[in-house]
This record gives sequence, structure tokens and C-alpha cells, in this order.
Amino acid sequence: MQPINIGICGLGTVGYGSYGVLERNQEEISRRLGKRLCVSHIAVLALKDGQEVGDVKITNDAMSVARDPDVDILLELIGGTEFAYDLILEAISNGKHVVTANKALIATHGNAIFKAARANNVIVAYEAAVAGGIPIIKVLREGLAANKINWLAGIINGTGNYILTEMQSRSRPFADVLKEAQGLGYAEADPTYDVEGIDAAHKLTILSALAFGTPLHLEKAYTEGISQITPEDLQYADELGYRIKHLGISSISDQGIDLRVHPTLIAKQALIAKVDGVMNAVLVHGDAVGSTLYYGAGAGAEPTASAVVADVIDVARRLECMQEEQEQIPALGFQTEALRETKILPIEEVVCAYYLRISVQDKVGVIADITEILGENEISIDAMIQKDPDKSGQDHNAISVIIMTHEIQEAIMNKAITELEALDAVNTGITRIRVTELGE
Ligand code: HSE
Repeated sequence: MQPINIGICGLGTVGYGSYGVLERNQEEISRRLGKRLCVSHIAVLALKDGQEVGDVKITNDAMSVARDPDVDILLELIGGTEFAYDLILEAISNGKHVVTANKALIATHGNAIFKAARANNVIVAYEAAVAGGIPIIKVLREGLAANKINWLAGIINGTGNYILTEMQSRSRPFADVLKEAQGLGYAEADPTYDVEGIDAAHKLTILSALAFGTPLHLEKAYTEGISQITPEDLQYADELGYRIKHLGISSISDQGIDLRVHPTLIAKQALIAKVDGVMNAVLVHGDAVGSTLYYGAGAGAEPTASAVVADVIDVARRLECMQEEQEQIPALGFQTEALRETKILPIEEVVCAYYLRISVQDKVGVIADITEILGENEISIDAMIQKDPDKSGQDHNAISVIIMTHEIQEAIMNKAITELEALDAVNTGITRIRVTELGE
């Protein structure tokens, strides 16, 4: 029986990890598939020390893999959104099926890529693009296909979660932990993608489109990272009964779709608040199934390879029954004609509760002024704590006032923060972290 030939473009952490899993589990995969998968062509600029690929054909020209008549499935594991985009379009136009782990590419150019794939009757699979080894794309597209999805929320950046966990549990400095995550192969080539929430926004954009049957709209995602979170915020949140996690949240209501990634206070007892280190977790609420939770390693060579190779097997299985011009399992889970443009709510229209950390001069009347402004804006206070001056800081007279509010629209909170910062006794730079109650 003819094997199915795989071309791998990119032999970095994920590329070499995927090659390794394909080789190591060859026999088990053949038992599942009834066919052999054979890596026949690899594009890499140069093999790194210790990398071995047997007698596979090697090139430094990835386009030659996209044009190789012997390659059935091309694995795009190069990353980036420019060359990788051209490469995938070239592969598609040459009739190749594509598997990619590239969330930035799918979030940015997915609409065009899926259109080209459909026109050429090939599959583009991207399970590894979101939450590493957790098969969350399959969950949304297939496992929960009976449901109307109401909302989803997830810890979908392993590096960010690793940093927050280490800062919380071992009081380690941010920069140190980030460096470690880079060494372990978790972080993006540009680590600002991890710490500024961009990587999570890519992933949430994909999950939201799959959940609600819309085209991909990365440009409308509200994106905030963890770089402004201090060890004090983690400690104060802890005292109030919360963990701070970087969450991607998307929900649908009559007003539209909420699409936002930002640090979030979650009650300590919530299951997702206990997800630590590089682990990812995604909660999905469907009208029939209720709340479901998916947990696993969100980054790293082998967990990501697990998703890449599962996609290869999936594509190989579907090759047999593909017919011309028939969309079998649509790329975004809904028939292309049935995708619906739905308003994505600007962050100012989002309603949530808030944690505020306000640095103030320790003067008589300052708390009264703060509560008056909140009252005038109809912002209700849930809890308040005052912290002694930090003697190690520069301003010996400053104290921190921590306020937890009830739910209020973001636009009103913005107005109140501007008014608070205009008070003489309030130092500029009020920290605001949104609070979420997840119906686990
Ligand atoms: N940099 C990403 C993360 C890798 O830390 O989650 C997996 O997408």
C-alpha cells in the first residue's frame, strides 16, 4: 500500500518535535490509519546540532516542498505571517493538504486561506494553533457541534501563565521567569507576543469564530497583556480570595460578541484558577452540554507535535472519502455560506466588575473623595482594603487603596478613573484589572 507522503517546512521546536513523534509512533499511527505516513521531504535552513532525519530529502527552499509532486500533506511549521502565507497558498494551489501550528497566520489570513483551500478542494488543519496539545478545535468544530455555544474562556498562553504562576508562588522577578520560558521553548520568537497578549488574541480569535460561526476578526479583539501586573497585585488579589490569570474571553449576547484578552481576577476556588505553570485550560459553555473544561500542556515541542500529528492523521483519513467540490468538515465548523458577521463589542461596551489599585497620598479625606466619585458614577463598591505605605518605595507618604467594584460598563469605569486621577491626592496610573465569574 502506498504511504502518504509528508513534507515538513521548518524544523524548529514544533517541526522537529513533530518529526520525532511521526517517527517514534509510526507503528501505532499505521494501526490507527491503516496506512503508513512517510516524511519524504524537509525544508530547513540548516539542521541543528543533534538533529537527525535519516535519509529524508532535505532542502533549504520551502517552496520546493510545496511544489513537490510526491508530497501529499505539507506541514507549515515555519511561523510568521508573510512567507508562511505565500507557502501555504502555493501548497494549496498545488493540490496539497496543509497542517499548520501557526495561530498568527490563521488569525490574520485564515479567511483567505480557507477560501483558497475550498476552491482547490484541499484541507487546511490547524489544531496545534490553539492551546498546544489540547484538541480544542476538534471539540468546538465536532465534539460540541450539537450545541449553541454561549461563551468560552481560557488560559491560552502557556508562557504568560508560567510567568504569573512563578511570580505568585515564588516571588520571582518577571524578567527571570520569561527568560526561563524562552529557554524551555514555550515563548514566541518575539516574547512580547506572549506578555502583551497578542498570542492569546490570535488564539481567541480562532476559538471565537469556531464557537459562533463568524469570519475571523483579529483586528476587533481587545488585547491587554500581563506586563503591568505587579507582585503586589497578585498578593492583594490573593488576600481578597482571587487569582490573577491571563484569560481570553468570548461570549455572545443580543448586543454582540465579546472578544477580549486581559488579566482577570477569578475566585480562587474556580477550577481554572488552579491551572498553573505552562498548562492551558479552556472552558466552553454550550446550551445542551453546560460547562465543559479542557486542560493540558499549551506549549512545548511534544504537546504541540501531538496536535500537529493528530491533524496529519485526520487529514490522511479524510483523503479517502474526499469528493470534488464538497465541503466535508468546514474549516471553521460552520458551512462557509452560513458564517455570520456579528457585531464584536468594543471594550467600552463590555460590562464587568473591577479591581482597582489606587496609589494615594495619605491625607485626611482622600478615601471620601474616591468613594464620592465612584458613587456619582453609580459604581458600587464590593470590598475595599488600605495598605500601609511601602517604605522601600520612592514615595514614603503613598498608600495603596484596593477597591473591588460590582459590575459596571467599561466606559463608565474609564470616566471614573479619569476623574479619580484628577484628584490632587491620587497619583496617576491607577491599576484596573477586570474580574470574571465563570459559571463552571
Ligand atoms: N508561546 C506560546 C505559549 C506557544 O506560550 O502559549 C504555544 O502557542
